[in-house]
Amino acid sequence: MNNLRGCNAIITGASRGIGAHIARALAAEGVHLALVARSADALAEVREQVLEHDVKAVIIPADLSNTAQLEAVVGKAENELGPTDILINNAGVEYAAPYQEYPIDQIRLDVQLNLLAAMLLSNTVLPGMLLRGRGHIVNISSLAGKIGFPYQTPYAATKAGLNMFTHSLRVELADTPVGVSVICPGYVDDFGMFSRRDKTGVTVPKMLKPTTTDKVVAAVIRAIRKDIAEITVNALPVRPLTLLRELGPGTTSFIHKATGNTRFIRELLAKSSHKSHKSHKKSSR
Ligand SMILES: NC(=O)c1ccc[n+]([C@@H]2O[C@H](COP(=O)([O-])OP(=O)(O)OC[C@H]3O[C@@H](n4cnc5c(N)ncnc54)[C@H](OP(=O)(O)O)[C@@H]3O)[C@@H](O)[C@H]2O)c1
Repeated sequence: MNNLRGCNAIITGASRGIGAHIARALAAEGVHLALVARSADALAEVREQVLEHDVKAVIIPADLSNTAQLEAVVGKAENELGPTDILINNAGVEYAAPYQEYPIDQIRLDVQLNLLAAMLLSNTVLPGMLLRGRGHIVNISSLAGKIGFPYQTPYAATKAGLNMFTHSLRVELADTPVGVSVICPGYVDDFGMFSRRDKTGVTVPKMLKPTTTDKVVAAVIRAIRKDIAEITVNALPVRPLTLLRELGPGTTSFIHKATGNTRFIRELLAKSSHKSHKSHKKSSR
C-alpha cells in the first residue's frame, strides 16, 4: 500500500510507548486512526496530538486480553471511521521471572494479549480487507521471538507465535492485495516497556545495544508501503545470531551466554521488582 493518505488504521497499545509513536507517524502520513488501549486519558492525549495532522481519530478504551471485546473494538472503529485498511497489533505485555515462578495468570495474560488478541483482531478485519481488495496487518513482535529469551519464556513464546502466524498468513494471502508483516525490535531504550525497566544501572550487552522507537516506527511504515514480510530492528546487525540459531537450535544457550544476555537479565531481575511472586503464582491454574 504505497499511498497511505486517507486510509483507516486500528492501532492497539496506542496509549504510550511504541504504539503512540506509530499513531503520530501514521497521522503525519494522513491516516485516520482508531486508538485502542485500556487508559482512556492517555489515549485522549495521543488523540489530541494526532488531530494536529488533520486526520480523524477516535479512542476506544478496551482491555484486549478480554477476547470477548475484540469484535466490538473493530465494530466501534469501523462505525466511526469506516472500513479498516490497516491493523497494527502492537499492544503487548512483558514480565520477567524464572519460569517456575512465573505467575500462572501472567502466563495467560501474555498469551491472550500478545498473541491471541492479535490473531483474533486479524481474523475480524481480514474478510473486509479481502472484499475491498486492500489492507495491511502489521504485528509488532520482538527479537525475543527469533532467538528466545531467558526469564521471559512466555513472552518469547508469544512473539515466536506471532512471527509464524504472520508468515503462514502471508502464504495464504500471497495472491491477494492484502499484506501482513512482522516487526521484530531488539531492546528499545527511549520509550516503552524496556525503557521503564532500564533504570537499574545494569548495562545492556554491547551486541544487543538498544535501538530507538523512531527506527521501529520507520520499519512499520516501510513494511506497509513495500509489503515486507519481516523486519528486525536492532542497533547492530543480529542476522548472524538469528541464522546461527536457525541452523542449530542447540546454540540458543550459547548465543545468550556469549552475548552476555543471560547475565544481563539475571542482574536486571535481581535489581527489579519483577522478581518471583510465589504467592501470586498459587492464585489460579
Ligand atoms: N520496548 C521494547 O524494548 C520492545 C522490544 C521489542 C518488542 N516490543 C514490543 O512492542 C510493543 C509495544 O511495546 P512498548 O514498549 O511500547 O510497551 P508499553 O510502553 O508497555 O506499551 C504497551 C501498550 O499496550 C497497551 N496494553 C497493555 N495491556 C493491555 C491490555 N490488556 N489491553 C489493551 N491494551 C493494553 C498499553 O496501554 P494501557 O496500559 O493503557 O492498556 C500500552 O499502550 C509490544 O508488543 C512489545 O512486546 C517492545
